[in-house]
Amino acid sequence: MSNASGRLVDRFGRVHTNLRVSVTDRCNIRCLYCMPNENVQFMPRDEILSFEEIARFVRVAAGLGVNKLRLTGGEPLVRHELAELIRLLARIEGIDDIALTTNGILLDQHARELKEAGLHRLNISLDTLDEDTYRQISRREGVDRIVAGIVAAQQAGFEKIRINAVTMRGINDQDVTTLSRFAREHDLEMRFIEFMPLDAENAWENELVVTGSEVRARLEDAFGPLVAAERGDPSQPAVDYNFADGGGRVGLINPVSEPFCDQCNRLRITAEGKIRNCLFSTTEWDARALLRGSASDAELADLIREAVSAKKRGHGIDEPHFVRPERAMYQIGG
Ligand code: 5AD
Ligand code: SF4
Repeated sequence: MSNASGRLVDRFGRVHTNLRVSVTDRCNIRCLYCMPNENVQFMPRDEILSFEEIARFVRVAAGLGVNKLRLTGGEPLVRHELAELIRLLARIEGIDDIALTTNGILLDQHARELKEAGLHRLNISLDTLDEDTYRQISRREGVDRIVAGIVAAQQAGFEKIRINAVTMRGINDQDVTTLSRFAREHDLEMRFIEFMPLDAENAWENELVVTGSEVRARLEDAFGPLVAAERGDPSQPAVDYNFADGGGRVGLINPVSEPFCDQCNRLRITAEGKIRNCLFSTTEWDARALLRGSASDAELADLIREAVSAKKRGHGIDEPHFVRPERAMYQIGG
């Protein structure tokens, strides 16, 4: 059946309303959980979707019930004129929430224009406040610039800014408390994410994963009891806790130790226009071929529906026959 409406429901009844759009695979740093340090093969520019192509795809997805967008990379702020894209997307009927995941390095220059363009929410990646540890993780420098970016974002009027840290054993597991203290002092929401097998250098192993329950124990040692917060949006992957002393909130994202696939409502499109139905998907659907051919919106809608119908129950990281996707995180979009 070919029509341009109808919701995106998969075989397990999950309704897909959330689209993550990667706008580039390029990045100005080299996080070890994501990119190779050297000899990075970036996609040729003419393979990357234009803003008009992205906006058309989003318009079709919105017609199928997608109402939330997240822009990811690589690092989205290295894409020229990103605010212009946000302006286009904010005008699309049905889209009522646009968020951005950034490493924060270029944020102080762009915070104001992003806000003016209609960006609603910001997630900033910061895995440590210690410059030496930051250099070890990102293979670049940046803590000061990121902190300046956070300040600029708050001054530009962004509220409820989230800080994301990927925790890795022996690398930044010690930083959990300093990051949380920083977040508590600056009215930021701290989130800790378990390290997933999506690094380009294939260094992931189970022993490197610091589980959410370990993070929780560390935080309770430092700040006292954490109280589970009421679950607002069930498709939201973080398990949220409030500090019993009233010092804000922390979220634990545990894709490895406690997969949340059964609540997943996400769909992804890569920078060069491949639809993915999961971070760990090993199949892709080529939206760019339709966008650059003479396909109708109805045909694009069918392709999106096909990708959703093929979605598997879970990522299977813990299963014996788990196969990593060929792409690393920067080529997928977090
Ligand atoms: N495991 C978990 N999270 C990751 N991210 C990137 N790579 C990984 C990984 N291997 C997340 C980080 C980063 C965002 C862009 O994606 O939170 O900040
Ligand atoms: Fe860049 Fe983000 Fe990957 Fe780090 S996680 S290398 S900031 S794309």
